[in-house]
Amino acid sequence: MIKSLRGHLFIGLTAIIVLTGAIGGLLAYNWAFEEADELQDSVLIQLASVAANGTFSTGKLQGVEEDTEVFLIELGTTPRGSLDDRRLFGLKDGLQLAVRNRQPIRALLRTRADGSRFAVAQPTAIRDATARNMAFRTLLPIAALIPCLMIMTALVIAYSLRPLIRLAEDLDARPADDLTALPLSDTPSELHPFIAAMNGLLERMRLLMDQQRRFVADAAHELRTPITALSVQAENLGPVDLPEAARSRLAALKQGMHRTRHLLEQLLALARQEARPAGAELPLVALDHALKNTVADMLPLALDRSIDLGSELVEPVTIRGEPVVIEAMIRNLLDNALRYTPSGGRVDIGVYRSGGAAVLQVEDTGPGLAASDLDRIFEPFFRGSQPQGDGSGLGLSIVKRTVERLGGSIELENIGVASRGGLRVTVHIPHAAVDGGAAKGHPASERRPPRGP
Ligand SMILES: Nc1ncnc2c1ncn2[C@@H]1O[C@H](COP(=O)(O)OP(=O)(O)OP(=O)(O)O)[C@@H](O)[C@H]1O
Ligand SMILES: [Mg+2]
Repeated sequence: MIKSLRGHLFIGLTAIIVLTGAIGGLLAYNWAFEEADELQDSVLIQLASVAANGTFSTGKLQGVEEDTEVFLIELGTTPRGSLDDRRLFGLKDGLQLAVRNRQPIRALLRTRADGSRFAVAQPTAIRDATARNMAFRTLLPIAALIPCLMIMTALVIAYSLRPLIRLAEDLDARPADDLTALPLSDTPSELHPFIAAMNGLLERMRLLMDQQRRFVADAAHELRTPITALSVQAENLGPVDLPEAARSRLAALKQGMHRTRHLLEQLLALARQEARPAGAELPLVALDHALKNTVADMLPLALDRSIDLGSELVEPVTIRGEPVVIEAMIRNLLDNALRYTPSGGRVDIGVYRSGGAAVLQVEDTGPGLAASDLDRIFEPFFRGSQPQGDGSGLGLSIVKRTVERLGGSIELENIGVASRGGLRVTVHIPHAAVDGGAAKGHPASERRPPRGP
């Protein structure tokens, strides 16, 4: 079975073209051969009319085309000469087939008014060669036409299959979570049942994914309340006089609950950003504003870890997105930088415009990422080959999905300068044009002087 539709069509149509060409060629050849035969007979008749007046002498006719080899044979009034001539004399007037000097000939016999007979003859082999030659020429246009038709067939097939290829390219270029229906416009009607079936499948997948998201969001949400209540209970145990062993277990319990709460927060952040239907109009968000809010939230962690958290450059930049989702993205980037940088280190953040993009950059002085981990670092629950401390492994996948949904890109690079190592995360998000001023809640334009080294 041929797997390619294009190959199938091409082979099928080419076979039809070649077969039609062959049959047409054979018929044309036979017809042209017979025509050439008749043409040569009429030449013999014309020459015989001239020869009847005694214009020619016996032997090869002069003044007639050299390679036609037409002979005049004078047979006299009674049979005479060689056996071949006597036999020729015995034939009736008109066009006949005979043999002369062991050579088959086509002869036209005539009797003059004085009773003398003669024949105008031509070797059959020469006649056939001339006829073949003429018939062969009728094949040339057909032979030239076949390759042209094959090329045209290939072009028509390629042109007809273009919508199918375009459809596949469109599907290929889609982001993984874009499950919107394929458009029916600009596609041939033969593809409509196929596209409708695909759209049905996409819709079922969307419903299924929505269900799963809702389940994750609901489960995380439902679990958050009891975990918070448990944390409060554990906190309440703080002032209670407890034996040393119980106190260390309480500390482990608190940490476990803190981890669980963090995991639930991360799952909620993931579910929240995915709940938004793709392509919906998003509100304008001042990215610099969102960054400052998040930095303010993270300062206690930076102080706790003795890390110098500061901004290099903060320009007013507006993007489209949901504030909660964007803050979750920034929080995860800062959280990583603060948690994986050894205490006493430094984290620099910046937000600015570059071309049509809003750029958010976070640099730290931590260990950076192992090259072998870079491929998988955005996978959910992947924490690198040498995970450090607590974490759910969801942070960077939240960031990546947010960036993709906002139509942007993210780069991670190890800074690797001799004086300092560390990771640099750069996020590009399309800048949203704002008419008549800044986005809602946008503070006045501000550029901080770069920090000293
Ligand atoms: N700035 C960084 N410096 C060094 N390693 C990092 C940095 N950011 C992330 N990593 C590595 O990448 C892994 C994945 O990060 P990610 O934020 O996805 O998950 P996590 O921090 O482990 O968990 P979560 O963010 O969900 O609490 C981390 O476990 C860490 O090993
Ligand atoms: Mg993280």
